[in-house]
Amino acid sequence: MTINKRIVLSSDHAAIDLRQAVAKHIATLGWEVVDIGPTTTESTHYPIHGKAAAERVASGDCALGIIICGTGQGIMMAANKVEGIRCGVCTDTFSARMIRQHNNANMLSLGARVVGEGIALDIVDAFLTAEFEGGRHATRVDMIEA
Ligand code: RB5
Repeated sequence: MTINKRIVLSSDHAAIDLRQAVAKHIATLGWEVVDIGPTTTESTHYPIHGKAAAERVASGDCALGIIICGTGQGIMMAANKVEGIRCGVCTDTFSARMIRQHNNANMLSLGARVVGEGIALDIVDAFLTAEFEGGRHATRVDMIEA
């Protein structure tokens, strides 16, 4: 269940443009976007940004988070080190829907060098509109947390 409509966005230098496009798109859907940067394309380190976004979600400040790097993989690995975070990389809308419905993912990771803006925004829509189904899936998510 979504506790608020605040969503944190972050990326590394490889994904500034896509992050800004995602931010603009999400704002039109009625979400309060907390974009924690970075703002320049100067080379940076994705673990810093994945961790910072994940902490906003883990603390409850933001209900969900979207993080982006070149592949989506490194920043996802960093985010998943934060307790309470369940983040998946998605390159298709089916997976984006399922990580919410079955895995109760609270963060989505995208690869700016993998998906174009059109697909990325469709993935974001699928992620944001799906809801956790609970039931047998809750048992499994509890097992992940344990
Ligand atoms: C940066 O060049 C690149 O390594 C990073 O964006 C990401 O793809 C890592 O997983």
